[in-house]
Amino acid sequence: MIYLDNSASTYIKPKEVINATMLGLTKYSANPGRSGHKLSMDSAIMVEKVREKVCKFVNAPQAVFTENCTDALNLAILGTFKEDGHVICTINDHNASVRPLFELQKKYGLEISIASPKTPGTITLEDIKQHIKQNTYLICVNHMSNVDGEITDIESIGNYCKEHNIIFLVDCAQSAGHIKIDMEKMGINFLALAPHKALYSPQGVGVLAYKENFKLNPIRFGGTGTESENVYQPLGTVETYESGTLPTPNILGLGAGIDFVEKNFSIINEKIDDLSTYLNFELSSINGVKVYTHPNNSFGVIGFNIHDFGSTDVSQILSDKYGICTRGGLHCAGLKHKFLGTLNQGIVRASLSFFNNFSDCQKLVKAVKHIAKSGY
Ligand code: ALA
Repeated sequence: MIYLDNSASTYIKPKEVINATMLGLTKYSANPGRSGHKLSMDSAIMVEKVREKVCKFVNAPQAVFTENCTDALNLAILGTFKEDGHVICTINDHNASVRPLFELQKKYGLEISIASPKTPGTITLEDIKQHIKQNTYLICVNHMSNVDGEITDIESIGNYCKEHNIIFLVDCAQSAGHIKIDMEKMGINFLALAPHKALYSPQGVGVLAYKENFKLNPIRFGGTGTESENVYQPLGTVETYESGTLPTPNILGLGAGIDFVEKNFSIINEKIDDLSTYLNFELSSINGVKVYTHPNNSFGVIGFNIHDFGSTDVSQILSDKYGICTRGGLHCAGLKHKFLGTLNQGIVRASLSFFNNFSDCQKLVKAVKHIAKSGY
């Protein structure tokens, strides 16, 4: 099989990540931070080392390990909720942020505005600013769309938020690993990561990195390994948000994933840039194929359709007949499809990782040419 569904999850993990995860299952499998014995302490030290690495990677003062990126976004959105408040999100946002926001709307009447670009393209500060209200307390944006790779202009929005004391939450599920992120410079208060994507890490761990200047209420309650006599959730530490046993093997895998990306950042992204440019150009040149990803956007996400063929049908044929894994449908991003006018058809998405090569892309182009010409 040729795997071109890396925006859903990178399939091939570097051997360093596999080895580090294995170490978490063997040497460091005692419960981190719950007991005082040596093995528990050793696991806790390893977990804390990865926490430091994550913070350094995105230049954050603090980071919480969550179950996944959705869990991190839920924590940021539900944990900062303000009654009578107003939130701005964007058409690029994944349901991982849209649904918790609309849950708050349904239950508590949260006001939500959805920002969109004037024409398909980058969402800028201007697109956001026209929705600002007196009671706007949170701006929640997706750094890179999982449907077409479209980028949001984070830094200018972040600076605006800083000036106006608005919380800035950024979903970096697709961008981390492709674009360097600096929370301080970009004015980000909360940042969510999906390590199993372009950080080449195991599934089963997410990250919410944050600055400490905004109060975040916990959304899950339980053991923290601290103040066990207290029936209420202890507040004010990272443990506040990490009730339950942490997935040490996945966290150690994440540490190795970050090392892999940092060490190879240029090689990884130059390769993905080349392959994306090739795919975009070749697919766009096929009669009857519409590519949604802008040709200058070369972060490895290429959304396309063939004639009016259903995207899930095309994706299925690519898998069954050509042995190529892509994703069809709505990609859990309904707002984006409404904007693009693809709510019915969906979009076929090919997404790349460092472990793809030119031949994988050539095979996809050949298959798409065949389907476009002969149907399925
Ligand atoms: N959010 C993941 C995707 O884009 C699962 O496919």
